[in-house]
Amino acid sequence: MKIKFDQKNLEGFLSIKDFEGVQPAVDKAHHDLLKKTGKGSDYTGWLDLPEKTTDSTLDEILGLARTVREHSDCLIGIGIGGSYVGIRASLEFLISDQKMPVYYAGHNLSAGYLYHLMEQLKDKRITVVVISKSGTTTEPALAFRIIKNFMEEKYSPAELKKRIITITDAEKGALRSITKKEGYQSFSINNDVGGRFSVLTPVGLVPLALAGIDIKSLIQGARQAAVDYGVMDMGKNPAYQYAAARYLLYQRGKVIEVLSTFYQRLSFVEEWWKQLFGESEGKDGKGIFPTSLSFTTDLHSMGQLLQEGERNMFETFLMAENSGHEVIIPSDDANLDNFNCVAGKDLDFVNKQAYKATAMAHYEGGVPNMTITIPCFDAGTLGELYYFFEKAVAITGYLLEVNPFNQPGVEAYKKKMFALLGRK
Ligand code: PA5
Repeated sequence: MKIKFDQKNLEGFLSIKDFEGVQPAVDKAHHDLLKKTGKGSDYTGWLDLPEKTTDSTLDEILGLARTVREHSDCLIGIGIGGSYVGIRASLEFLISDQKMPVYYAGHNLSAGYLYHLMEQLKDKRITVVVISKSGTTTEPALAFRIIKNFMEEKYSPAELKKRIITITDAEKGALRSITKKEGYQSFSINNDVGGRFSVLTPVGLVPLALAGIDIKSLIQGARQAAVDYGVMDMGKNPAYQYAAARYLLYQRGKVIEVLSTFYQRLSFVEEWWKQLFGESEGKDGKGIFPTSLSFTTDLHSMGQLLQEGERNMFETFLMAENSGHEVIIPSDDANLDNFNCVAGKDLDFVNKQAYKATAMAHYEGGVPNMTITIPCFDAGTLGELYYFFEKAVAITGYLLEVNPFNQPGVEAYKKKMFALLGRK
């Protein structure tokens, strides 16, 4: 277990007795999850996914990745929600390991965005990975139509087949039908894993491998996490401590969770976390509202609200022990800004003092907070972090007595939009 979990800034808000009181419910949630007796158990395939992902599957993906990088300058990942955020979160986290640029499409309906993307890439050698679990989602379907058309102007039909890879359901959906008809290279998505839990399936693994990421280490980190965070005893399982604390705080009127990081490379992990937690818990009139901030930037815009606004929130800091790069602050003879006190220090030293000061100030201002600290920015750590959050949200979902694995609410707007578009 490489992640550290600190909850000392819950003191005064939650007591040991509170945690003892919730332990039986956590035990039940643990059993329901493992024995598949809880709500939505058909979609708990993510639990043993790292263990079930074989090295030969990973080797097959890595082989394709080497070929693609030989004939491509860049990749376009087409997808939205669970078929987009995990990929982007991983690549921003692992930016130093990336070997090929990745652009995104199909995560919005913005004409200007797609126009500029095609303008920017018109002279590049492109490979496209189209990802849609259902194979029927509007945004990626339309983006694929447009980008395929753009690619057809650049490449022969035979060349196009080399440059389009699809990831979708093994049998169902329009994207599978298109794949069969055109003979595209394709991977299937496990049907017992929901979109927001799919980052460690081919949904994440294929584009990440193509971009040059060490997917074996990513899976290895998650495999170890499945062991470490599989322990029932809450005292030994930080994912369960985090889950229980969130539930208890919610019971006490803390209905908003702010995930705050001081590291740019974690900003998109926050986006992934928002989808995972928002879609898993927000139903049946219940759910903690997950939001995120990027510090210190947002301390200059949202700091006031956190410090003195309505006391209906708690905060989880996402920190890193090693920032990955040293940037030394120079000394200045004139010292007009009076910052020679930190001359010779790494900028990350100042960042960490900003975190300590913020956690203390928010705690004293009535915002209970916890801190999750990762050791560094490597693929194994990211695999562990993903599994930590997946396990935690499943437990909080069961404590809230909702089905953490469905998302019936996302269909409502789609029905209305299809009616407006005249789509059958
Ligand atoms: O969690 C979910 O299921 C959704 O948010 C999906 O990830 C999102 O709608 C994209 O769906 P699909 O991969 O089917 O295109």
